Amino acid sequence: DVIDVGQLTGQGVFTYDPGFVSTAACESKITYIDGGKGVLLHRGYPIDQLADHSDYLEVCYLLLYGELPSAAEKLQFENTINNHTMVHEQLRNFYQGFRRDAHPMAIMCGVVGALSAFYHDSLEISDERHREIAAFRLIAKMPTLAAMCYKYSLGQPFMYPKNELSYSENFLQMMFGNPCEEYVVNPIVAKAMDKIFILHADHEQNASTSTVRLAGSSGANPFACIAAGIAALWGPAHGGANEAVLDMLTEIGDVSNVDKFVAKAKDKNDPFRLMGFGHRVYKNYDPRAKVMRETCHEVLGDLGIQDPLLELAMKLEDIARSDSYFVEKNLYPNVDFYSGIILKAIGIPTSMFTVIFALARTVGWVAHWHEMISGSYRIGRPRQLYTGSPQRDFVPVDKR
Ligand code: ACO
Repeated sequence: DVIDVGQLTGQGVFTYDPGFVSTAACESKITYIDGGKGVLLHRGYPIDQLADHSDYLEVCYLLLYGELPSAAEKLQFENTINNHTMVHEQLRNFYQGFRRDAHPMAIMCGVVGALSAFYHDSLEISDERHREIAAFRLIAKMPTLAAMCYKYSLGQPFMYPKNELSYSENFLQMMFGNPCEEYVVNPIVAKAMDKIFILHADHEQNASTSTVRLAGSSGANPFACIAAGIAALWGPAHGGANEAVLDMLTEIGDVSNVDKFVAKAKDKNDPFRLMGFGHRVYKNYDPRAKVMRETCHEVLGDLGIQDPLLELAMKLEDIARSDSYFVEKNLYPNVDFYSGIILKAIGIPTSMFTVIFALARTVGWVAHWHEMISGSYRIGRPRQLYTGSPQRDFVPVDKR
């Protein structure tokens, strides 16, 4: 609605768009989505081609710099990221302050924001070089911080990064390795992990990216902005959905219960929704979900795992996609629907699913933050429609 509130506020006309359904808040050259056709391009390259032929750090370079790197640029970028994988030793003490059973996303909100207390030499946001180093640090340190959350929850020693490994291999080594024996990376698992990272790397102005931009528009430092993005991602309507999907599939339990849960999702008086279905922008199959579905079959096949949850997920998708409620509302599986089954097969606990999303999305957040700061921007300041009381006089407490 376009509402003339000029008479009320003396400030002219503005639009009322709850949920920002049809409001562009910025210009961007990073990611293009055609939700009707189910198209997702990063800097012009289709997501399925990137998932099949690229690797995560190359996609990071593409998102940050706008072009695919040459062989020499790729190597240099990988070396630069490797230089920053360690975290300050004092950060280890932060973890000790949390309960062992704390949700890892709660820990991530804290430790990523705390990076700003350790890396003063990348806080001068008007300096291009500072911004670049902050980006390298965030991309490089996220796997280390994420794996430390997991190790802390188990009471196991933290594993240092090993820089001869690839980004995904290193993450797996820090998650599942231990100081007593050499960790042998399974290439199938590492490839699947890398694909998951690529598929989550960016998705234009979703809730968490918009949060990062809004926080950044006030001039806040990059580590604080990314911590804000992590907080926004955590919710079950956004990144928390991957955890919620697995919980839902576990609760459904058996193919024979699918109809009952589909009926619940359609019932307007029941708050239950089919997690992993629906998207604000996609009114067609989410192209990331297509790749994720194929990867899920490949990984489970290669690892020789028969997970009844995959059968359940496919049954749920079949029923939902032939049901008029889901068809009319264009509710297709989104990226989170199959990712949890792959993560589970790799051995990642459910509580870490959203952390992995945050780790992978960090490059998208940073790329958008950098794009904004590098151009001309104003502080984000949405307006509201005031629906409260008209002006009235204060009443002293003894007269109320
Ligand atoms: N199950 C059942 N009904 C649904 C679902 C669902 N998963 N998703 C949407 N609907 C229905 C709504 O009830 C609504 O019906 P109505 O028009 O009769 O009131 C209609 O479809 C439109 O839904 P909205 O919530 O208005 O759509 P919106 O664009 O605001 O929300 C969202 C999108 C949050 C993703 C929603 O589809 C949802 O909650 N899905 C489940 C959670 C999920 O999977 N989130 C991950 C999103 S992808 C990501 O962040 C990586």
